[in-house]
Amino acid sequence: MTVAEKTKPAPSPSPAPAAPKKETILSGMQPTGALHIGNLEGALRNWVALQDQYWMYCCIVDWHALTAEWEDPSRLKENIFQMAVDWLAAGIDPEKCAVFVQSEVKEHAELHLIFSMLITVPTLTRLPTYAEKKDQLDSYGFLGYPVLQAADICLYNAHKVPVGKDQEKHIWLAADLAKRFNATYKKVFVEPEALFTKIPLILGADNRKMSKSYGNHIPIDATDKQTEKILKGYYTDPAKLRKGDPGNPEKCPVYLLHQIYTPHAKTEIAPPCKTGELGCVDCKLKLTANLNGALAPIRERRVELVKKPDVVWDVLATGAQRARQRAQNVMAKVHTAMKMDYRN
Ligand code: TRP
Repeated sequence: MTVAEKTKPAPSPSPAPAAPKKETILSGMQPTGALHIGNLEGALRNWVALQDQYWMYCCIVDWHALTAEWEDPSRLKENIFQMAVDWLAAGIDPEKCAVFVQSEVKEHAELHLIFSMLITVPTLTRLPTYAEKKDQLDSYGFLGYPVLQAADICLYNAHKVPVGKDQEKHIWLAADLAKRFNATYKKVFVEPEALFTKIPLILGADNRKMSKSYGNHIPIDATDKQTEKILKGYYTDPAKLRKGDPGNPEKCPVYLLHQIYTPHAKTEIAPPCKTGELGCVDCKLKLTANLNGALAPIRERRVELVKKPDVVWDVLATGAQRARQRAQNVMAKVHTAMKMDYRN
């Protein structure tokens, strides 16, 4: 390699899309531990599909996690690492997306503070997400959670935010804050919109929504054997006690998973379950094979990434750099709009 080649600036990390990308997406997740297949099928696969059409910012929102983990933030570092590994293993491409940690871009905190002036306390206390938890969590930080989320989104002037229905009010609030800022000072912000995509229903082993907090989940990083064990313990139609009993796949969380992981579930699983020909034990074994097969490439990439923590932390450092550039750009406009650009 010649000196000129060695000193040539590294290729720009900014995405070079095939078709021009027009709009920006900001997506965020709290680093609360390794992800499960509900997160994978419900969110990550969607993000991976979106990264070719949009400018993507994928943010690990550690300050949001701090609202609950404030007493012991020592786990955040490992959780952030595992989350980045899950994202990359699932196919998030750091060439196409800025993958970064929220607290590494301090502008999130600055915009949060400015937005906090534009919203009343009763508007925040009325939000169901606050009302439901305020008995356990009544800190000032938790009250401001949706304001910080609005800052995450508006800081990049994101047009779209891929979220589940439970986040609808938060995105509405972000759009409202953007509108309020624009009306009070000068137009700086895009009013973001939620991007609800059709996501498959995924239930856990106990037939409730799959969630780490219920302990009914299938972790992405489970081994084939662990996955088999979890599936063996899965709830099935209680009327189907043994092979031969007719089952009702529509009421069975195992069948919901077959619909995702078994290519011809409708013709190959549902009919023999209904007639009783297919027993639950065999049905679960088939699912185990298909689910493990589908996750194998992700799990293999995971194993490789975990061996190279420096590579993962480097992705996060580069992502934060790119995010910071965009954020500082938007904040300069905020300062000008508010006549708080004192040196200019
Ligand atoms: N509140 C979101 C959740 O619990 C996490 C989040 C924080 C987020 N900031 C965001 C989601 C910005 C989308 C965009 O799922």
